[in-house]
Amino acid sequence: MKYPIDPTHQYCSAHSSPNSLLLERIEKNTFLYTIDPFNYSGHLQGRILAMFSKMIQPKRILEVGTFTGYATVCLAEGLAEGGTLLSIEINPEIEFLNKEHIEASPKAAQIELIIGDAFEIMPSLESGFDLIFLDGAKRQYEDYYEQGIRLLRSGGYLIIDNVLWKGKIIAGDQDPRTRAMEEFNILVLHDERVENVVLPLCDGMQIVRKI
Ligand SMILES: C[S@@+](CC[C@H](N)C(=O)[O-])C[C@H]1O[C@@H](n2cnc3c(N)ncnc32)[C@H](O)[C@@H]1O
Repeated sequence: MKYPIDPTHQYCSAHSSPNSLLLERIEKNTFLYTIDPFNYSGHLQGRILAMFSKMIQPKRILEVGTFTGYATVCLAEGLAEGGTLLSIEINPEIEFLNKEHIEASPKAAQIELIIGDAFEIMPSLESGFDLIFLDGAKRQYEDYYEQGIRLLRSGGYLIIDNVLWKGKIIAGDQDPRTRAMEEFNILVLHDERVENVVLPLCDGMQIVRKI
């Protein structure tokens, strides 16, 4: 949630379904126990993720970058009966928190948390995911993306966060990290294996469908 919260965002958030008590607790704990709380998705993005998930009704979801489990709980809302969500987080220091939050989810039995490097773990996963949320280290997006495409079933969706990079791409910022995100967006645009749409929501959400 590291982007300017403008009046349009505020209005949309205020007129979208409110957070559950669990999401309110995750939000509160994220600010109490982490040093960089704005890494979590936040209310509006959480409702968008939950809505997409409910539309897709995925049997298998993969999340890269659990953090405190906010988006994990949102994405799990749409799981099909018997479906599973695998979430990967590299930082063991927040396991005490995301584990507790995931265990409190009504979908806890369907969620698996792996503490480890997604870059190392993704190649060992079996393909056939219906929905993948890429939200790990931004400088690794190209690597995650290739693995993500391999892991998706045909007709499956990849949601990639922060692709507008706090408005810096549009502003023409030449910082190497801004340039890297711009190059990533161009790579997706020219990838003939997918169709995509970049949404001006939150920090920019790229929705990719594997053909
Ligand atoms: C923006 S936060 C994720 C926020 C969470 N998805 C949400 O929406 O509430 C990014 C997380 O990715 C994790 N991360 C970074 N690189 C990773 C990697 N290679 N494998 C797994 N997790 C990674 C970070 O430790 C951090 O907790």
